[in-house]
Amino acid sequence: MTYSIQESRTDEVLRISGLKIYYKGDLGLVKAVDGVSLSINRGSSLAIVGESGSGKTTLGHAIMRLLPYNAVIAGGEIIFNGRNVLSLSKEELRKLRGYRLTMVFQEPSAALNPVFKIGSFLKDVLKKGKGASMSESELKEEMISLLRKVRIPSPEEVLNKYPHELSGGMKQRVLIAAAIANGPDLMIADEPTSALDVSVQAQILKLLDELRAKMGLSLIFITHNLGVAAQVSDQIAVMYAGKIMELAPTSSIFETPKHPYTSMLLKTIPTIRRELKKEGLAAIPGSLPDLTSPPPGCRFHPRCPMAMEDCRKVDPEPIEVEKGHFVSCLLYRDKA
Ligand SMILES: Nc1ncnc2c1ncn2[C@@H]1O[C@H](COP(=O)(O)OP(=O)(O)O)[C@@H](O)[C@H]1O
Ligand SMILES: [Mg+2]
Repeated sequence: MTYSIQESRTDEVLRISGLKIYYKGDLGLVKAVDGVSLSINRGSSLAIVGESGSGKTTLGHAIMRLLPYNAVIAGGEIIFNGRNVLSLSKEELRKLRGYRLTMVFQEPSAALNPVFKIGSFLKDVLKKGKGASMSESELKEEMISLLRKVRIPSPEEVLNKYPHELSGGMKQRVLIAAAIANGPDLMIADEPTSALDVSVQAQILKLLDELRAKMGLSLIFITHNLGVAAQVSDQIAVMYAGKIMELAPTSSIFETPKHPYTSMLLKTIPTIRRELKKEGLAAIPGSLPDLTSPPPGCRFHPRCPMAMEDCRKVDPEPIEVEKGHFVSCLLYRDKA
């Protein structure tokens, strides 16, 4: 079963079906992504939310085909613009990555080479794509226009700076500029604001949302924070232990959450009301299961306050409880 909000498939940028990514480890196979299906339409944004270790980064890396050597593609398909990314050759992947398909990472400092000025870095990115036949002055103009798009003040000065001369927020803006330089269809942003101050975080989220709307870009936004996800996404997929537990429009996740795990995650978001009442934050009791031998049945059952006998035995299939609102939980099986 595949999730899709709209009936029309023509506008689909990405469709993942039954994806399984395992890692070979000393204790056996780590089932990091275990049967994930989702789809994204052109110009829309999907947040993937879950606790640390739930498989979000693995999913992002699989789409980019940036998996480490010990990863095994154990099943499924990743159809991007009509082609299965999992069966492309290295040469075909090179043509895709950084052009049609781009990624922004959590740590901006680690993604920029300290010995190159911002201008050299961006020129290199452009020359591999859109700027291949541009003159030096055209390249400079294009770089300045890119830095303006990501709202960097004094772009000419910034081109002449080294990464260490910029703040974390500015570095992340430069990396976003690089990610949009060659006009991608899909950008994956993996916790892009987690290393930044809260005020800078909000500006970067606003920028990503603005770029998506202006450029018709699709965005996959990976975060452990539901509150952050709400600011940039049309849809939210809640991931737990390698599986999607619930996928729905952002407003439905907040207003009518169905999965017990989603409800518990919502209680972990800080609110002013809770602070005033000194209620503090709810933590979800227990921890993620060992992914080399995940619990049988529903993977969340050992931590679920609503767990029933069958939850230990039956792995729940996604059920569409309302249009575009999918939940994988036996509580809803009479709605299937
Ligand atoms: N290269 C690797 N080798 C073995 N296990 C890994 C590797 N990368 C991630 N994992 C494991 O896969 C699971 C999912 O990790 P990850 O995708 O990074 O989750 P998230 O991004 O949600 O924190 C975790 O149990 C993690 O320890
Ligand atoms: Mg991660």
